[in-house]
Amino acid sequence: LRIAILAGGLSHERDISLRSGNRVAQVLKQDGHSVLVLDVDARMISSLRAFGPDVVWPLVHGSHGEDGGLQNTLIALGLPYVGTHSDGCQRSSFKPTAKATVRTGGVLTPDSLTLPRAYFSQLGAQDVLGVVAGHLGFPLVVKPNQGGSGLGVSVAFNADELRAAMVACFSYDDRALIEKYVEGTEIAVSVVDTGAGPRALPPVEVVSQGQYDFDARYNPGRSEYFVPARLSGDDADKVKETALAVHRTLGLGNLSRTDLILDAHGTPWFIDVNVVPGMTENSLLPMAIKADEELGDLYDALVRNPLVQP
Ligand code: DAL
Repeated sequence: LRIAILAGGLSHERDISLRSGNRVAQVLKQDGHSVLVLDVDARMISSLRAFGPDVVWPLVHGSHGEDGGLQNTLIALGLPYVGTHSDGCQRSSFKPTAKATVRTGGVLTPDSLTLPRAYFSQLGAQDVLGVVAGHLGFPLVVKPNQGGSGLGVSVAFNADELRAAMVACFSYDDRALIEKYVEGTEIAVSVVDTGAGPRALPPVEVVSQGQYDFDARYNPGRSEYFVPARLSGDDADKVKETALAVHRTLGLGNLSRTDLILDAHGTPWFIDVNVVPGMTENSLLPMAIKADEELGDLYDALVRNPLVQP
């Protein structure tokens, strides 16, 4: 097949996207496909037309790659692609919307508030912090409304840390999601669908020294991974069912990765979902693929069974 991989873009995750794109391209070339990696810039549409791909695999992370805009462009161009329809991307990419939607599917997610930067400045930091702390209680996790890779995410244990966390967050987004912190085991469950229905891959357990932030994600040795996760059979089933419920409730397509916390009572809490999960050598979906002995050649299956166009 002739396959165009879209990577790069202008989000803070640009470099990660280029790493994801080049790694997937390498695998697909080994499968015998003709692959071109295209940066998402002003020449993208003319480059796509000139190459004439049978299928496109958009691997742009962050707001502009995961909010449905790029996917809508591919639909308008009539190009089959690997991923999710734009409405599923929109629901997933805005974290408060994703949290509210998965709740309708019976999935638990920590209580949260969303604060726009303007509101924070107008009211004065102390007033806002008082309201937030009174409503949710410490510790809290502050994260940008959109985006991934742990950028702009901090845990705050008191009012001073909350203030600093919000300032850090506002350098990535104009809206901050402030969420109750849940203590437990960090688990990522990827779901893939090559046409036969969604299938959950082996859960990946993440153990990092301190916060699982950008450095801990992409620098080898900073985090330890257990694949499959060290869970009882019941807990493994629970986290897989949760990821499948997230995938179905949000209306996702060929692949997703749900990040969860499994608390001490064995309850899975939805934290985030990625509709364009990282595909670098340090990313969690490729680790899960390797651990699934029955999966076969997933990348080849995905490009041969792309998303059915609406
Ligand atoms: N947003 C990045 C790429 C990830 O979570 O894998």
